[in-house]
Amino acid sequence: MENTNTFISKEKRQEGSIGFELFARYLNSMQGIKIFAPIIFTLVFIASFAESAFRYIVSLWVDNCTTISCQSSYSIINQTKTWLQNANPNEITIFFFGFCLVTIIIRALDWLILIGFLSNGARVLHDQMVESFSNVRVTFMDENPSGRLIRRFSGDYIQAKDEIPNIFADMFSTFIELIIITIIVLIQAPFAIFSIIPCGFFYYKIQKIFKASSREIQRYTKILETPIWSLFSESVVGYQTIRAYGKTNEFIQQLVLISQDFAKATLLQSRILRWLNLRLKVTSEFFTLTITIIAIYFVTIGKIGVGQAGFLMSLTIGLDSIMQWLTRSLSMIESKMVSIERIIEYKNLPSEHKINEISLKNTTKNWPNQGEVIIKNLVSSYREDLPIIINNLNITFQAGKKIGIIGRTGAGKSTLFQAFYRMIYFHSGEIIVDGIDITKIPLEDARSIFAIVPQEPHLFSGTLKYNLDRTHKFTDDQIWKALKEVQLSQYIESLPGKLNYEIAEKGGNFSVGQRQLLCMARAILSNAKIILMDEATASVDLETENLIQEAIKKVFTNKTTIVIAHRLDTLKSADYVALLGNGKLLDYGVPDNVLSKLGEGLHSHLT
Ligand SMILES: Nc1ncnc2c1ncn2[C@@H]1O[C@H](COP(=O)(O)OP(=O)(O)O)[C@@H](O)[C@H]1O
Ligand SMILES: [Mg+2]
Repeated sequence: MENTNTFISKEKRQEGSIGFELFARYLNSMQGIKIFAPIIFTLVFIASFAESAFRYIVSLWVDNCTTISCQSSYSIINQTKTWLQNANPNEITIFFFGFCLVTIIIRALDWLILIGFLSNGARVLHDQMVESFSNVRVTFMDENPSGRLIRRFSGDYIQAKDEIPNIFADMFSTFIELIIITIIVLIQAPFAIFSIIPCGFFYYKIQKIFKASSREIQRYTKILETPIWSLFSESVVGYQTIRAYGKTNEFIQQLVLISQDFAKATLLQSRILRWLNLRLKVTSEFFTLTITIIAIYFVTIGKIGVGQAGFLMSLTIGLDSIMQWLTRSLSMIESKMVSIERIIEYKNLPSEHKINEISLKNTTKNWPNQGEVIIKNLVSSYREDLPIIINNLNITFQAGKKIGIIGRTGAGKSTLFQAFYRMIYFHSGEIIVDGIDITKIPLEDARSIFAIVPQEPHLFSGTLKYNLDRTHKFTDDQIWKALKEVQLSQYIESLPGKLNYEIAEKGGNFSVGQRQLLCMARAILSNAKIILMDEATASVDLETENLIQEAIKKVFTNKTTIVIAHRLDTLKSADYVALLGNGKLLDYGVPDNVLSKLGEGLHSHLT
């Protein structure tokens, strides 16, 4: 038995900080990045620049500094200043109003384009993930529990589509704004460098500490949250048992206890935000103070006017909120980007299709017209790294015959059917159907030549008709004819809605035998040349059993029918019997021969 720890793969969990490489991969996977990136960058830059420019123009307008050292070295600034100070109030109002309007429009536009671009990108990533997932090799489902799969398509996708674009857009525009402010302050008051460098260093240190702790607290919160959900759902499902044993209070106590742990972690989360805000505030106050002192000094020596001093101060006062946003966004984006990483990981799942498939288009139209199956030296396992189950198997299933397969449990009978559907890994060998090796042709073609009646037949929720004809290819008459052949038509006639009768989840409102008969009707409709059937071992009443046997005999007369037999009757009516053991063919021949050799030991092979 394979060790389950290695069979179910561990979910990869990102640890430590998210690398720059992931951001690059995220942006690279966006559609039209080359066109949109420059547009978005230009718009964000203009909008952020315009906001500072607005303050600057106001400072020019109110400035009453007339000394020569107040004159800017750019004549356009001097001209604007002269115009502003000589214009009448109406002109000024219209000018500032227009300026604001344009800035708002650009800001809205850049936001819309950026968010739209990123959300659309998330959708494209999602579609690629769905595409990759729908082609994934079947054993992937064994390796990954369904909860894990569902989370990628729900929680992770929601983060990628709704949350990450917002944080990203925030982060991007505040970052640009920060750079612009720093440059302006440096140009206007180069002395500020002595304040900018220590403050910048301090900001960097604070956010580094914050990011690391916030990330760990978030992980911790998530871990503490899971038991609450588990206990809650367990209590809901088992409430009768809990009440019957009088354990209600105990469960409530337990829930209170784990909720308190979770609440503590949540409290810690808000505490750490306080910690951050306090330090950011102090740093930014220090920055504002130093800039103010520098500005006052410049005003007293007549280098800048009062207006410009105000301009510098108003820029720096807004700095702490910018820094807060940036730090917060930086730490949030890190935890959210894990979702992107998980989606990108699912974009490139191992496909079940082969790369060098040989197209069937030009070969033959009516293939397969006989239904002969020759298996040559087939060596196969569930996954490349798992033990070999089909071990150098050689067997020929003659066209149009009925062959019963027997063998001890674990002999590889069901696995052989999976091999026909190419759901497992082939180390070597061929499966030749009417002259064509189906391990080399496109998967859809290979699968379409078989119809299967599984041991545990599966029906989908929906109408009966939908279950028999999912592609709406057949008329009602054809469907009724198929139902008649498996002798189910009378029963279906008696159901409310007949063909539109609603099937319960997993076909719960039909017995196993009836479900097998429905699968047979599906097989008749499919027109497949080769029928695979795994006889039901679950309780099937005698009457249904007889119906199944008759259907096999009558309906599939000119088809190759391969039955994994669990009943002596099935074998007696077969043309040939194949005995499998350890993935090898042990015996093959007419039933009497094979069965008589087994003698008393036959029953252990009918499992
Ligand atoms: N999904 C699976 N993944 C890995 N190994 C499997 C899987 N299903 C079956 N096996 C292994 O394949 C072997 C043959 O199983 P199977 O073909 O179901 O036997 P049977 O002849 O009883 O139908 C068994 O040893 C079993 O452990
Ligand atoms: Mg089986």
